[in-house]
Amino acid sequence: MHRKRGSLILCGTFLFITWNAILVLLLWGRPTPSGDQGEVVSRTNKDLVEDVIQITNTIENELEIQKELLIQILNHQSRSSNKNKPKVVAPAQPVIPILVIACNRVTVRRCLDKLLQHRPSAQLYPIIVSQDCGHADTAEVIRSYGNQVTHLKQPDLSDIAVRPEHKKFQGYYKISRHYHWALNQVFKTHSHSSVVIVEDDLEVAPDFFEYFRAMLPLLKSDPSLWCVSAWNDNGRDGYVDPGKANLLYRTDFFPGLGWMLLREVWEELEPKWPASFWDDWMRQPEQRRNRACIRPEISRTLTFGRQGVSLGQFYDKYLRYIKLNTEFVPFTKLDLSYLKEETYRENFIKEVYSAPVVTYEEVTQGQLKGPGPFRLQYSSKNSFKLLAKNLGIMDDLKSGVPRTGYRGTVSFLSRGKRIYLAPPPGWTQYDPTWS
Ligand code: UD1
Ligand code: MN
Repeated sequence: MHRKRGSLILCGTFLFITWNAILVLLLWGRPTPSGDQGEVVSRTNKDLVEDVIQITNTIENELEIQKELLIQILNHQSRSSNKNKPKVVAPAQPVIPILVIACNRVTVRRCLDKLLQHRPSAQLYPIIVSQDCGHADTAEVIRSYGNQVTHLKQPDLSDIAVRPEHKKFQGYYKISRHYHWALNQVFKTHSHSSVVIVEDDLEVAPDFFEYFRAMLPLLKSDPSLWCVSAWNDNGRDGYVDPGKANLLYRTDFFPGLGWMLLREVWEELEPKWPASFWDDWMRQPEQRRNRACIRPEISRTLTFGRQGVSLGQFYDKYLRYIKLNTEFVPFTKLDLSYLKEETYRENFIKEVYSAPVVTYEEVTQGQLKGPGPFRLQYSSKNSFKLLAKNLGIMDDLKSGVPRTGYRGTVSFLSRGKRIYLAPPPGWTQYDPTWS
């Protein structure tokens, strides 16, 4: 700040001195009237008068410029002193709180240790641990972190009345109630304007914080986005490009599992927040409203929660294999303009639909010629599911959207080659009956 002001003053002084030097040189270089040639003398006199008028005009202009410059310096000074004042109170960079959703697992320690290990600043990333379930041992673990985290306790521990056939889903009702309460705490009680939500069975990558900070401006400015997630549902070893840790995507599938939400979106969702299954509810067209999330090629979260509400089958089959990124990518210093909606969509369609169409056999038997990418087409729910299952990618659809899908297309690596599992050209919308 001060260096800039100094250089402005210096610049002004330099201009002033230079101009005066030019004036002196000009006047010095004038031929002195010789006096012995009448006509010449009178012309020279006339010239001189004209020159003086011109010089006076120039001086006038110069003074005007000097005045402008001084005004600019003054403005600059008052602007920077205005800027300096609130800077003491609020840091120039936005605060992004991390909300940890906890219940009765003491292994929340693993989650908190990793967050604290990679957190670049306590001021910029306050950690709020919201605990449901009233589990004493877990509360003790959280308490042991002292003022490194804020410990909130969801006050309503009562059972939730559900219809008999949903008795076994009681857990999902409690999770939903907890999210509702905790997000109100973050946005209403603590007045934050954004949050990154992490569940107690997630471990974060070294560039987790860097990633969300870099994505915040895009999330704020782009109404076609409603979340940024750290998770790639197909991020298993062999299915992602290890050389592309910096690669990010848009996806129409809400991934969750370490994700950023803005206050505006919470204000929109809060009044109709569901009693259970909040994540699948978010995936419904009424809530998503055609908005996308950003997700990485390589996940920035890993889930170690085998013993959870959903009882582990899904975990053993898929989740435990999703690999965590280890290399730090300086996202805040990268050009992320390729993620802008129009740019991204146009490039994506071009890239996917100019890729040659191949068959399932060619992909799985290693018969692909050239470096890729390649396109594998599906045209029905069943052909999608069959291909996905056989290729080892997630075959489930929520409200018609395949996991990681963007405009129906799922991007992944197979035998080192980029494959786009894509609907026929001219895709316009999802069919919510595909599930
Ligand atoms: C799955 C999802 C999870 C989602 C949940 C709700 C995956 C891997 N996980 O939960 O993202 O939020 O469905 O649809 O897809 N919890 C409470 N109160 C409870 C029980 C649990 O707050 O009574 C908390 C846990 O601490 C945890 C979260 O809810 O942070 C999810 O619980 P978990 O047991 O991990 O269930 P999942 O089957 O993983
Ligand atoms: Mn879990």
